[in-house]
Amino acid sequence: MSHIHVSNHPLLLHKLAMLREMKTKPKKFRELIREISILLAYESTADLALQEKIVTTPLTETKGCELKEGIGLIPVLRAGLGMVEGFWEMMPTAEVWHIGLYRDHKTFEPIRYYSKLPVSPTVQVCVILDPMLATGGTAVEAVQMLKKWGAKKIKYVGLIGAPEGIKHLQDAHPDVDIYLAAVDDHLNEHAYIVPGLGDAGDRQFGTG
Ligand code: URA
Repeated sequence: MSHIHVSNHPLLLHKLAMLREMKTKPKKFRELIREISILLAYESTADLALQEKIVTTPLTETKGCELKEGIGLIPVLRAGLGMVEGFWEMMPTAEVWHIGLYRDHKTFEPIRYYSKLPVSPTVQVCVILDPMLATGGTAVEAVQMLKKWGAKKIKYVGLIGAPEGIKHLQDAHPDVDIYLAAVDDHLNEHAYIVPGLGDAGDRQFGTG
């Protein structure tokens, strides 16, 4: 079974409450997603492999470390876009590939409409960025796309998960570790997370 990490970092929880607040306007909402993503980037990369290297300080040579593996960030359009900047600040050499999936309004099944993956994988670790793990359909499909393409190590990072979505992702892909800022109560009849924060795409982009 995959590892699930739900943050209990006070800074993150403080910012998450502001993000949920319906009075929070899109500009502030985007800033908060960026800041929360920095904290999630820190937490979700704690197991990255390192290799030793020699660095020269102004005084002497000493042993240091550098990341051993290349990292790819895969934001799911469009809500995942807001998470890229925070991650990129922490790992500026990460490659970013976009995939587009939307939920059919009636069936809630994911529909694929865009994929900008290179022909073959160029990195060792793929991090899917999508704020809301609701039914899990989109996450399962995104992982499938990456596996088919040859990705070996895949992590999923989101802001809020519903128990239904977490179970769906864990059942379908037990090898994918999940990192979240919170696990909420349930999904409503429109497959929105309750209490949640509403539509993460609309709230970032001022639509809806
Ligand atoms: N997508 C969202 O943006 N919000 C939800 O609550 C569920 C899916």
